[in-house]
Amino acid sequence: MFIARSHLFMKLLNQRPKTDQLVDGMIRLMRKHETFSGLLDLCCGNDRVSICMAKKGFKSVEVDISKAFLEDVKRKAEENGVSHLVTYAEGDVRKLKQVLGRVQKPFDVVTNAWTSIGYYSEYDDINIFSRAREPSRKSTILFITETVHTEYLSIKFAPTSYSEKTTW
Ligand SMILES: C[S@@+](CC[C@H](N)C(=O)[O-])C[C@H]1O[C@@H](n2cnc3c(N)ncnc32)[C@H](O)[C@@H]1O
Repeated sequence: MFIARSHLFMKLLNQRPKTDQLVDGMIRLMRKHETFSGLLDLCCGNDRVSICMAKKGFKSVEVDISKAFLEDVKRKAEENGVSHLVTYAEGDVRKLKQVLGRVQKPFDVVTNAWTSIGYYSEYDDINIFSRAREPSRKSTILFITETVHTEYLSIKFAPTSYSEKTTW
């Protein structure tokens, strides 16, 4: 879905609501920090948090397993003149240390938006956030935002489908 069919999932990503309000709320909390040395966006998708943050002057490191989504972020960062504030790290969040490599740390904020968790086991989920502590400070804020769960989906399910023609 995110790699082999990224062009289909991207349609859904592009329909998501704008994040200005979310980002403004995050920035209000971030302002409590005396310094701001960067944001780590885990499973960033194709831009919703990072470009909005960058337009407000905050730098971020974008981690995603999908090359296509990161390329789209790159394109949008260039279009918006904020490329200097956005760094890309392609890879699996379960191997965060390896994926971040020499990227500048520590981060003051870690984000995980729109239920970008729960694809693996509960152990993996816990591990992903535990690993995110390593490149963070004690005071780092973790935002897990816009989450949904089975109970919510069972009453608010809005089926959306995209398909592509295949020739056999
Ligand atoms: C529901 S989308 C949300 C994207 C973005 N956070 C947003 O709010 O628009 C989930 C994202 O998680 C990424 N993802 C899934 N598993 C991943 C993994 N193991 N490592 C890195 N990214 C992953 C997908 O490529 C996709 O971009």
